[in-house]
Amino acid sequence: GLGAAIVTAVALRLAAQQKKMQQLLGPLQLSHTDLQRVQALMMQEMERGLDKERNAESSLRMLPTYVCHTPDGTERGEFLALDLGGTNFRVLAVNVSQENIDMSSKIYAIPTAIMQGTGEALFDHIMDCIIDFQHEKQMRGQALPLGFTFSFPCQQLGLDKAVLLNWTKGFNASDCEGRDVVQLLRDAAQRKRVGKALKVVAVVNDTVGTMMACGYHDPKCEIGLIVGTGTNTCYMEEMAKVGTVEGDQGRMCINMEWGAFGDNGCIDSYFTNFDRQVDEKTINVGKQRFEKLISGMYLGEIVRHILLALVEEEVLLRGKSSQKLKNRNLLQTKFLSTIEAPGLSLLQVQAILRDLDLDANYEDSVLVREVCQIVSRRAAHLCAAGMAAVVEKMRESRGLEQFTVTVGVDGTLYKMHPYFSQNLHKMLKDLAPRCNVTFMQSEDGSGKGAALVAAVSSLGGWRREG
Ligand code: GLC
Repeated sequence: GLGAAIVTAVALRLAAQQKKMQQLLGPLQLSHTDLQRVQALMMQEMERGLDKERNAESSLRMLPTYVCHTPDGTERGEFLALDLGGTNFRVLAVNVSQENIDMSSKIYAIPTAIMQGTGEALFDHIMDCIIDFQHEKQMRGQALPLGFTFSFPCQQLGLDKAVLLNWTKGFNASDCEGRDVVQLLRDAAQRKRVGKALKVVAVVNDTVGTMMACGYHDPKCEIGLIVGTGTNTCYMEEMAKVGTVEGDQGRMCINMEWGAFGDNGCIDSYFTNFDRQVDEKTINVGKQRFEKLISGMYLGEIVRHILLALVEEEVLLRGKSSQKLKNRNLLQTKFLSTIEAPGLSLLQVQAILRDLDLDANYEDSVLVREVCQIVSRRAAHLCAAGMAAVVEKMRESRGLEQFTVTVGVDGTLYKMHPYFSQNLHKMLKDLAPRCNVTFMQSEDGSGKGAALVAAVSSLGGWRREG
């Protein structure tokens, strides 16, 4: 009868929807084998990046940092620290004493116009912030040694000389690439007539700062991980394995710049159409491909593109597209953290979607949550595959059967998302069973770490050269 016909029609419609969903979302769900493959590729690219002859072929820059050991607790002194490259720009005063590390800091905004304007304007702005900070803290005239956390790929020619290779994330200031950022800062100080008050002694990546800050508390901390606006890792490598720096003794911290993993095409088969759509709209098309699958700056955009496709296929919002959903950056990473929060009812999800002018019903809410979960889980799993390669590489470099290590970690996605860290830890255990890995969250790691590096450097504790 009619009833049965309706039931059949509904069932058919649901089955068709399921199929479309599977078609669209399937490629985002990486199998164990996929992740093992990514891990193997990462390992291969690491080895290539460290090879004297072949490093240009690798998508991993594997940059020497001239940081040769983690803190040993004898570091002392008063320092200024700058932290540029995350969500905020910060200036810090750091006091490293026998008992602890004291800090006071101030956050300054960097407007997009300055991030993407001229290099001069950017470094002038940074200098203005330093001057304001010193004024406020009544530190004028004191030329404290300065540690600069500069979270972009740099070719270091020593601790206090760092040539910017290319901007990443939202930055694109002109006339900076190919130049020493310490010199750019000094030039700005000259222009402001405070040249004598500036004593830059070390430039460090945020991953390095984070590793050092956690290393101060835990000597087993020999890896730094950031999963925030961008993503990247550094680790302590045996000098004997670093073909790109002279010498075979001891270790050196290597800034992997793993955000660029795959920029040579080696993981193309894991990119989906959504990832390509997101990439095409960035200021660095084709670059930082791994980062664009994982970090906070991009996850919201991936979700938005998936939702658009689901609407297009009439699986979501009964096919009624909303003008708002077409707005770039409508969804921030915080959106994923909120939607996935345990205990958030579907009614609340629905309310959030309605706030975004999306006329969502109950089923739509279920679906949107599922999409967020798929995207954040993929990010965590890819991060685990990368980290598995790092810990396995360290274990091999040191010729160990078993390896115990701590990862110092920072970044809003890692810290704020309800499941990211769990998913990462669990998958890492599966992928690197011979390594026993502990994660330690850093508090203000970038600033603290820069000060610790500055402390060792101002005591002459590291080899100079480049
Ligand atoms: C980007 C930068 C890298 C930094 C990371 C996390 O990947 O290139 O240097 O460590 O973001 O902030």
